[in-house]
Amino acid sequence: MPSVQSNTRSGTSSPVQKTLKTWWKESTVYQVYPASFKDSNGDGIGDLQGVISKLDYIKSLGANIVWLSPIFCSPQVDMGYDVSDYYNIYRPYGTVEDLDQLTAAIHQRGMKLVLDLVVNHTSDQHRWFQEARSSRANPYRDWYIWKKPRYGEDGKPQPPNNWKSYFGGSAWEYDEPSGEYYLHLFAKEQPDLNWENPYVRAAVHDVIRYWLQKGADGFRMNAINLISKDQSFPNAEVTDPYSPWQNGTKHFACGPRLHEYLQGIGKILKQYDAFSVGEMPEVYDLNEMLRSIGADRSELSMVFHFESVTLDHGHGSKFTSRKWDLHELKSIVSRWQTFMHENNGWNTLYLENHDQPRAVSRFGSDEPEHRASSAKMLATFLGLQSGTLFIYQGQELGMPNVPKHWGIEQYRDIETLNHWNEITASDPLNTPLHEACLLEYRLKSRDNARTPMQWDDSPNAGFSSVRPWLPVHDDYQDLNAVNQVNDKDSVYHYWVNMLRLRKAYPDILVYGSFELLCPEHPDLFIYTRTAPSGRALIVTNFRPREVPWSWPIAEVAYVASRSGEVVLSNAGRTSHTLSNTITLQPFEAFVWLSGTETSRL
Ligand code: GLC
Ligand code: CA
Repeated sequence: MPSVQSNTRSGTSSPVQKTLKTWWKESTVYQVYPASFKDSNGDGIGDLQGVISKLDYIKSLGANIVWLSPIFCSPQVDMGYDVSDYYNIYRPYGTVEDLDQLTAAIHQRGMKLVLDLVVNHTSDQHRWFQEARSSRANPYRDWYIWKKPRYGEDGKPQPPNNWKSYFGGSAWEYDEPSGEYYLHLFAKEQPDLNWENPYVRAAVHDVIRYWLQKGADGFRMNAINLISKDQSFPNAEVTDPYSPWQNGTKHFACGPRLHEYLQGIGKILKQYDAFSVGEMPEVYDLNEMLRSIGADRSELSMVFHFESVTLDHGHGSKFTSRKWDLHELKSIVSRWQTFMHENNGWNTLYLENHDQPRAVSRFGSDEPEHRASSAKMLATFLGLQSGTLFIYQGQELGMPNVPKHWGIEQYRDIETLNHWNEITASDPLNTPLHEACLLEYRLKSRDNARTPMQWDDSPNAGFSSVRPWLPVHDDYQDLNAVNQVNDKDSVYHYWVNMLRLRKAYPDILVYGSFELLCPEHPDLFIYTRTAPSGRALIVTNFRPREVPWSWPIAEVAYVASRSGEVVLSNAGRTSHTLSNTITLQPFEAFVWLSGTETSRL
């Protein structure tokens, strides 16, 4: 124990622990992006048999829930987030029998399976939409959102309002034969379902029940807070005077009937004690979030908020440049952490997924000398907060963003390509603007996270025997799973150790309270997790340089009366090298556990 001085031995009193215990709070989720995980049959696309072959790897890491990004039939306009049949598997990924086999293999290992439920919209190839589009009198017409045009001075039809699509352009598409527009908040091939229609809700409930009965243990619910729209479909406020299309989120994020709809879903989930996590972009009101996840609400288990992962989005568009700021990150994290703990809600912990760039490149450093240490630092920062932890494939290896030499030809993501096409069409000769966009794509394009998983140093990184659908990162000969599993000092093993720590002390690290220390410190993110049984102090240096550090005054009293130990470090720090004042290494992270025996590790 460091020789901290204190003139009191009383310490800080432990907060009352009121969080209810459940299996999914103690779980760690591993997200598999099927197209890029493991190709078992040599067509360059990952598949379900590939996932089965890697379940032991996921289990050894220490995760116990596998979340599969969409695997259902889809024309893949948006990588499966455009479903054309909720009851069958996209053929290149396999068959329903393969999914049965995967479900059984997951359960045999004592793990759980979470499917991605995409029901704000379907694909335009879904039978429901094909019917709906076929005529205004078709019974499925009202399963989607159709509106009459407005007419401009030239007499031409105009969209019914000024809402913009998240993937660029108007959120309305004109259907010439029927003379009406349909709403699509994402691509025009992703028409929004009309949740006002009880048949739509019943059809979604059927899908949910079907997969739960077949053995799924829960769902990640895509863009679920967008399902209830303001039925007057008002124009959005003009925030971008240069565009005819405006952000209408206010009129459909957490809309008027959202909670009624979520309770409808929640009833079914409850019967199966199922897991649920709702993706909820563009919500900043924590009380509103709590209405979806509060323990007494019977809606969802938890939600993904977007505050931390939009810190580097500039005004109006994610591809506008902006530097993220550590103070902002601190205030977001501590606001969510303390609010959920105090109000019997529950947090999700994530930095990466299939929509986000790689965390090392974004919040750490992907320079060779810092990549591994910053990946470990970020694992420590994230993984010991309060909430259910989500790891995205490759994050456990510290995989970075796409190589710097990628040109636009390498990208496949619809969001990136639509943005590029819009920019180059409206400003074709503006080379500096085009260059600036390419720079932003390397920082924030969704393809950064979608390059194939790097299993070993064989051609195509052991992902596939042929050239994959998206190029493998150049660094795979060095950075791959086999190398890291064989190296006790690797990023992979650091994650293993961190997850082991989390599991050994659930009272503190799952259910304990959170307190941010040194909120004003410009370089370090320091926090504590406290339970009646003990406390963990988590210290992380977010800078690529040495930073001097003194034991926080607030901790002195607590520490002085208890013994403790360094239980995790990415820089070889031990209890002996910890004193009142030390110099933290670039991207150093360590965890000091006190007030409890450390023999559980
Ligand atoms: C969600 C998905 C994203 C998809 C979008 C539209 O945000 O995570 O990948 O593009 O919904 O379905
Ligand atoms: Ca395949």
